[in-house]
Amino acid sequence: MKRATVLVARAVFPEVLARLSQHFEVEANPDDTIFGKPALAARLAGKAGAFTTGSERIDAEVLDANPQLRVVANMAVGYNNFDVAACTARGVLATNTPDVLTETTADFGFALMMAAARRMAESEHFLRRGEWTKWSYDMFTGSDVHGATLGILGMGRIGQALARRGALGFGMKVIYHNRSRLAPEQEAPIGARYVDKAALLREADHLVLVLPYSAASHHAIGAAELALMKPTATLTNVARGGIVDDAALAVALRERRIAAAALDVFEGEPKVHPDLLTVPNIVLTPHIASATVATRRRMADLAADNLITALTGGRPPTPINPEVLREGRLAEKTPRA
Ligand code: GLV
Repeated sequence: MKRATVLVARAVFPEVLARLSQHFEVEANPDDTIFGKPALAARLAGKAGAFTTGSERIDAEVLDANPQLRVVANMAVGYNNFDVAACTARGVLATNTPDVLTETTADFGFALMMAAARRMAESEHFLRRGEWTKWSYDMFTGSDVHGATLGILGMGRIGQALARRGALGFGMKVIYHNRSRLAPEQEAPIGARYVDKAALLREADHLVLVLPYSAASHHAIGAAELALMKPTATLTNVARGGIVDDAALAVALRERRIAAAALDVFEGEPKVHPDLLTVPNIVLTPHIASATVATRRRMADLAADNLITALTGGRPPTPINPEVLREGRLAEKTPRA
């Protein structure tokens, strides 16, 4: 039987490419070029599957140019780069990589939150500039993390992992807001208290964002929300750019309406709002919350597992739109070479 052809849209671990090559004809992207929409649509010609990352946008236009495409496997837990409804309408299976990155991402979110609270980046920059000439009682005084109130917006897997760190490791009080409330047996071990969004903003000493990006969460934190926060509070975003209004955040930081922020994700990344680059009270990292060698490898392997199983008649471990499988529409698609 003729082997299916797949596109691996970005550079990835050679071992994962080798695994995929055992099953498919693989078109790789060793130069790691970022394909804009027309280039991506053209590269997908003749491909039954695609291994993507957050930088590839899969929408109706790309799908309509490639009616032979059957599976898009994202190497990320977030999938706002996919138009899932458009995939489902065309019988294209979409998959992501949940679970394998939960603890690693929570580690990083907690580290960023601590870095903002204790002014680590700001004080390091001061030291590197050669401005440290003496110790003083109020130099870079921040706010405590232990015993403080941790606010979590979005209480999925990563939110709960952060809550465990805060409650069990640092004696923090945990409050959260989410579309749905956790079951009492999930709230109890971490003492998590469900509050409305305004209360979350008002009461949190350290607010961490871990909700998915969608039209509904666009600018969930803007000028009005920042105005509700304590002037001593910190804001950390390890979710997605666009959830925070970056321009409004820069103003709030400059005017010390909140104490500090830590961002791993940005509106329009890899571009960063220029005002965020000049405010001192911020920690900035280039979308690396899941970036440990082991976790990135697990993510790549899971994306590959999804692609392999979906295209060889197996059960993909982490489908986003499993209705495509249930309705048997994936199998109906005739792969075209
Ligand atoms: C990273 O941002 C992811 O969604 O996995």
